[in-house]
Amino acid sequence: MSSSGYSLVTLANGVRSVRSLAEAETFHPVIGPVAEAEALYVRQLRLLDRLAAHTGEFVIWDVGLGAAANALTVLRAIRDLPGSVRLVSFDHTLEPLRFALQHAEELGYFGGYEPLVAALLAQGQATLQIGPQALRWETHVGDFPTWLQAANQVFPAPHAILFDAYSPAKNPAMWTLPLFTNLFRQLDPARPCAMPTYSRATLLRVTWLLAGFHVGVGHATGEKEETTLAANTLSLLDEPLDRKWLARARRSTSAEPLHTPVYCQAPLTAETWDRLQAHPQFR
Ligand SMILES: C[S@@+](CC[C@H](N)C(=O)[O-])C[C@H]1O[C@@H](n2cnc3c(N)ncnc32)[C@H](O)[C@@H]1O
Repeated sequence: MSSSGYSLVTLANGVRSVRSLAEAETFHPVIGPVAEAEALYVRQLRLLDRLAAHTGEFVIWDVGLGAAANALTVLRAIRDLPGSVRLVSFDHTLEPLRFALQHAEELGYFGGYEPLVAALLAQGQATLQIGPQALRWETHVGDFPTWLQAANQVFPAPHAILFDAYSPAKNPAMWTLPLFTNLFRQLDPARPCAMPTYSRATLLRVTWLLAGFHVGVGHATGEKEETTLAANTLSLLDEPLDRKWLARARRSTSAEPLHTPVYCQAPLTAETWDRLQAHPQFR
């Protein structure tokens, strides 16, 4: 237990994770932080290959920084690669990160980045030269949907996005169609960008398609047998959703995107169905 509103939990496999007491949510509840982040983000985003082939700054947005398990697992995975990496983390609170740093040893995923995280917490940004890699990590603290809508502070367009909010039922404000429409507008069409998330919900996939993304089936993570991967180019998807999926979506009772930050389940409206059919992925 902790006075910070977060606690450590030990999962069935013995791995430690962080739990938000206020939200009654464990951040990586089944296989643990590192295994989930490696499967969902590092491998699925093909980060090692993409970075190795990249010239110039490689930009990663980390939406829902939380206790930084995703961010740190990614940094550890790419540690030996030369180049320039910029990690932009978004959250409306740094408390889980503060809590995690205090428990870095038990959590076991900091991998020597404790001083970097301490600097990040103190200054809002931190840089590190690790061998041939120049890393810049910065935090943007605030309500992500509000920031996206105003977008008055501009960050470089991402090559990859780690999207890790609580579930749509728990945190609908982070899963609306307006949010993802605004997020898609932040991408540079000339800069291939992919975004995985842990959910395979039809509602989520329809939302991402309508926002402008191409959407595909995502890898299993050990926790989920299937996840979702979106991108602004089909070339980053192994298994784009096809017309069979579209037919299933039409029959689903939970497919219509959230247009406002209120969770509700509904079948597709006629207008959404028309827009889906017109999506370039299904033409
Ligand atoms: C599942 S946790 C993220 C876990 C984290 N990625 C990790 O690896 O430890 C979800 C995070 O989303 C953040 N969040 C929820 N609503 C938000 C909002 N409206 N704006 C910004 N961040 C939000 C929460 O504070 C929480 O840290």
